Amino acid sequence: MQIIKKILSPLRKIITKLLIEPSILDSHINRRIWHETNAFRWAAAYLVKNQITGDYLEFGVWKGNSFIESYNQIQDYSKMFYAPGSTLGKSGKDLTNKFENMRFHAFDSFEGLSSSSNGNEPIQYFEGNYKAEESLFRSKLEEAQLDMSRVTITKGWFSETLNKETAKKINLKEVAISYIDCDLYEPALSALNFITPYVKTGTILIFDDWFRNKGNVNEGVQGAALKWQQDNENIYLQHYYSCDTRTALFIVQVNGKKIDQNINSV
Ligand SMILES: C[S@@+](CC[C@H](N)C(=O)[O-])C[C@H]1O[C@@H](n2cnc3c(N)ncnc32)[C@H](O)[C@@H]1O
Repeated sequence: MQIIKKILSPLRKIITKLLIEPSILDSHINRRIWHETNAFRWAAAYLVKNQITGDYLEFGVWKGNSFIESYNQIQDYSKMFYAPGSTLGKSGKDLTNKFENMRFHAFDSFEGLSSSSNGNEPIQYFEGNYKAEESLFRSKLEEAQLDMSRVTITKGWFSETLNKETAKKINLKEVAISYIDCDLYEPALSALNFITPYVKTGTILIFDDWFRNKGNVNEGVQGAALKWQQDNENIYLQHYYSCDTRTALFIVQVNGKKIDQNINSV
């Protein structure tokens, strides 16, 4: 009897989730990039369960796959969390979904990668790689039925667009989550500097390509993250989760005490 119960228990949980939010099934089937599904699922669970509110910012959006994935994961997870049939729902607590009006900001040159001053970049990081038209990005989002009134798109090189005027234009107040996927040290550092005034303890940062540049702590996105922390002594990144060979997730701690943790030992 115990064995049957053990086998049926996870099955019952899955069926309950599907009854609460059936779209979870098709959204999972349709998602093709498993590492991002995995990373964004963990990020969404963390955000929702800690009620970390604010905006989503993605630096390097290309054709929109990760942007759509992140949007869907946060939608799905928050709907499930605040559903009347959920544990929270049954408790009689306020079921206002704190994420249903979350805004999603996209930043990209739509010209592909910028040039790098580092002569040791991996071969795929050549200038212009990952170029996609802004119109393609926009149409992918529309096709995926994102609520475009909650989306902003800032086109241009980060060195030119990531400034106070842009923050004001998009009415940026707080960053809940940011995905940094622009591959190179300089743009990643520009992205981090841009979000500095808007991060808080609990903001989650996701870095793609953490171990490029042969894992050198001073190069690539990892180098940018290290430099950012050196320049902002009140901030450190607490490792949260890493998946596959490339994606690393961290939780920002502002004015927290760093406890013997090497951020690079993920
Ligand atoms: C690897 S792609 C992003 C992939 C996307 N996040 C996904 O998973 O579908 C990198 C993107 O960063 C953008 N990018 C790289 N360097 C940039 C810079 N200096 N300024 C603006 N955009 C940049 C490129 O145009 C490209 O779209």
